[in-house]
Amino acid sequence: MTKPQPLIAGNWKMNGLAASLSEAKAVAAGLTEITARVAICPSATLIAQMALALKGTSVAVGGQDCRAEASGAFTGDVAAEQLADAGASLVILGHSERRAGYGETDALVAAKVEAALRAGLEPIVCVGETLEQREAGEALAVVAAQVRGSLPAGLSGRAYSVAYEPVWAIGTGLTPTTPEIEDVHRAIRAVLVDMFGEAGRAPPILYGGSVKPSNAVEILAADEVGGALVGGASLKAEDFLGIIRAGSPNGSR
Ligand code: PGA
Repeated sequence: MTKPQPLIAGNWKMNGLAASLSEAKAVAAGLTEITARVAICPSATLIAQMALALKGTSVAVGGQDCRAEASGAFTGDVAAEQLADAGASLVILGHSERRAGYGETDALVAAKVEAALRAGLEPIVCVGETLEQREAGEALAVVAAQVRGSLPAGLSGRAYSVAYEPVWAIGTGLTPTTPEIEDVHRAIRAVLVDMFGEAGRAPPILYGGSVKPSNAVEILAADEVGGALVGGASLKAEDFLGIIRAGSPNGSR
């Protein structure tokens, strides 16, 4: 069975200066015969410049977080409307580095997802268990609860994706086995269908956590894996293109 068009999104995290825009341009230039949808999510400081640099290419630009409110006295924060105004069309929300480092709860993530929809942004909603939770056999329950709590009802019929990112696989070089990834992705799909009915079958479920060119073919071919959220390996155009090609089985390899 052929899969729907996958989404390969790069999460640059707190990396990149204006000089790094050349990597984004190299990604766009390398997208010949690519069937995957591609996005790069740089720091907020780079969004406007990157959107300009990638104008007319098929690479979309996204944010890495947003505030739930549309405007106001929130020093240092960025609103979804501001991301959209700068040229972003997507936004990563609920990344584990924000859940762990800033105490973001499922309810707050859901409020941010509402904000993204209000601003016309496509949210990529992240979920994932810690190593302790996996070892305790709680991975499926933890992830299912995060999906239920982080996705507002307003998502029904809107464009969004869920990214399964086991916390212990992020930036560590460790990845779950393919059957482990499939178990979690199938569980996420079941929750989406339970929450949204048939509409819950549409959103891609991305895998994230130490995706690299050498493991991308196997991961992206796995059941219910609809793309990848890539951190470290998205910083270099050559590596990111390797992953994008792995997600474009009908395109060039
Ligand atoms: P990684 O990060 O690819 O560097 O493991 C993934 C992520 O945090 O989105």
